[in-house]
Amino acid sequence: MAETSITLGGVALVGCGSATPAQRISNDQLGQRVDTNDSWIRSRTGISARHVIGPDETLTGLSHQAAANALRMAGWESESIDLILLATSTPDDLFGSAPQLQAILGAQKAVAFDLTAACSGFLFALVTAAQFLRTGAMRRALVIGADQLSRWVDWDDRRSCVLFGDGAGAVALEATSPDQNGLLGFQLKSDGSRGDCLNLPQVQNYLSLVAGNSHQQGGFKPIQMNGQEVYKFAVREVPTILQSLLKATNTKPESLDWLLLHQANQRILDAVADRFAIPQAKVLSNLAEYGNTSAATIPLMLDEAVQDERIKPGQLIASSGFGAGLSWGAALIRWQGPA
Ligand code: UT7
Repeated sequence: MAETSITLGGVALVGCGSATPAQRISNDQLGQRVDTNDSWIRSRTGISARHVIGPDETLTGLSHQAAANALRMAGWESESIDLILLATSTPDDLFGSAPQLQAILGAQKAVAFDLTAACSGFLFALVTAAQFLRTGAMRRALVIGADQLSRWVDWDDRRSCVLFGDGAGAVALEATSPDQNGLLGFQLKSDGSRGDCLNLPQVQNYLSLVAGNSHQQGGFKPIQMNGQEVYKFAVREVPTILQSLLKATNTKPESLDWLLLHQANQRILDAVADRFAIPQAKVLSNLAEYGNTSAATIPLMLDEAVQDERIKPGQLIASSGFGAGLSWGAALIRWQGPA
């Protein structure tokens, strides 16, 4: 049988945007709720504050703001979008929030769906969207990472509540010629056997349905996390996958302009940077202000650094996401920006 080969096009990141809730909770304020303090939180995590969705805000609303900002930067009309991929583990609607987002944006032509991979969600969604574009099936995609973990945190559990916040970030991704490709390589991993280190499990609530039969009423427990195990997982797997990606793409650490990691803990960022001898000045961090916003951290950080012109068109970014699943991944990205 004759061998068939597919010629892949490229993808370019041509716009980004972000949004965070108005409510800002400082470490000192959290100390009024649980037995913790600013000095412990800052020295162990690098976090000083987090933003928490209020009663008048929704995940779909935050995602809309982030997506609209990305559209504006890219200079796109919403009718021109083919795909909306919303990476979230905390949708407003368990059936998916992406179709609501599509409606609010007025992106009638776009197919819209959610993708769940916890804190790795944005990276997984970026790579997924790129496949539709690189094969020529679609031309324009909006990839959003958004989470509202505040709704699922046990605010009386000091071992986890200090870490998390809410937010949304978005990227506009466009099909290009192969020589303009901005997703230079990626690797994605899952290990469900270690999933109990970090999860948001269902409550066991069996109710009688009809005589002799029962059903489980839906509902979830708060986030459960073994912090030390997740920490060990991150500092082992993130350098390994980045190393493997750099090797596969023949990239030297010194040629990277930026290291853009999932914002979970400053100590994790520092440990990964040390491993590759990447200077602190090249390690992007906004943990102090937002904490861990799950699927939102990478596009939120990207947008901040593009807006303040730290990240410039043509620069090379190594990114890695990791978290519940367990799931983790890495991507080598060249930021293009708007035409
Ligand atoms: O997207 C992925 C999401 N998850 C993560 O990224 C989690 C990764 N893990 C971590 O970031 C760290 O493990 C934590 C920040 C969660 C914890 O830091 P740690 O250095 O591993 O602390 P620990 O769990 O070993 O706890 C040390 C001490 C304990 O007290 P004792 O037993 O030594 O007396 C804790 O009870 O710190 C205590 N502690 C706290 N004290 C004040 C734990 N949480 C707090 C707190 N405030 N919030």
